Amino acid sequence: MQPQYIIVHQQVAPYVAHIQLNRPSELNALNLQLMGELRDALKLLDSDDQVRAIVISGNDKAFAAGADIKQMAEKSAIDMLNIDQFSTWDTIKKTKKPIIAATSGFVLGGGCELAMLCDMIVASETTRFGQPEIKLGIMPGAGGTQRLTRAVGKALAMEMVLTGRMITATEALHAGLINKIVPVELYLQEAIKLASEVADMSPVAVKLAKEAVLKAFDSSLEEGLHFERKNFYLLFASQDQQEGMKAFTEKRKPVFKGK
Ligand code: CAA
Repeated sequence: MQPQYIIVHQQVAPYVAHIQLNRPSELNALNLQLMGELRDALKLLDSDDQVRAIVISGNDKAFAAGADIKQMAEKSAIDMLNIDQFSTWDTIKKTKKPIIAATSGFVLGGGCELAMLCDMIVASETTRFGQPEIKLGIMPGAGGTQRLTRAVGKALAMEMVLTGRMITATEALHAGLINKIVPVELYLQEAIKLASEVADMSPVAVKLAKEAVLKAFDSSLEEGLHFERKNFYLLFASQDQQEGMKAFTEKRKPVFKGK
């Protein structure tokens, strides 16, 4: 069945796929169906040999303005527990291929959390990031208090989470939340360019390197270093390692096969 709230573009560049969140009349509010469609699309792309990096975008006005407030408004705690909307997010988190968020306009609540769940963020200069849940009498629930704090530090995270203040793309760049800011006409193009750069590398090395960087968020330094070393040694079993080093000595561009 065709998804209703996302559009999947295969091969927007060699080995790069693009998922566009497409619920513009609601500023791409992340309802359960949209998140389910996103999870399913990412699962398919993650197992597709022709895809090595994935870009997620919204539109110029909104990457996503958060979880769907109208869908949640009447729910009880037990409804929320039973629906367990965040189990979808847990599956998305398991995506092994790198994901780049291309953001513009509102990146709020669950939208900000989705962008932070991606591996890199390319933002247009009109992007506004925020965790405004506190204004609704709730708090972030899809990782906002944890990922934002790790990205920007306690002071700014507390301010954003406790007051709901939105920050500009420039503030986000200085705080370490995003990778780059570009004019609004270019943010998607730049994100695809960044994805292409990653897609040029060995997919095996990219997969293990992403896994090792993410390990830094939930392990001690010792444990993380140990994990990194295992992945490093493992890469010497790949043909791509042989090709990469041979190409270096032969002064040519390597051709990586993901094996
Ligand atoms: N859920 C449902 N609908 C939303 C929405 C959301 N998060 N954000 C925007 N919309 C809808 C609006 O209701 C409106 O629909 P109607 O035309 O049917 O009224 C439409 O999108 C356009 O929005 P606005 O008219 O409000 O547009 P604006 O430009 O005046 O304001 C805005 C933009 C400041 C982003 C404002 O829409 C807003 O504050 N949105 C809510 C942001 C928010 O609180 N997000 C957190 C949600 S909770 C969450 O995400 C929990 C979690 O951790 C997972």
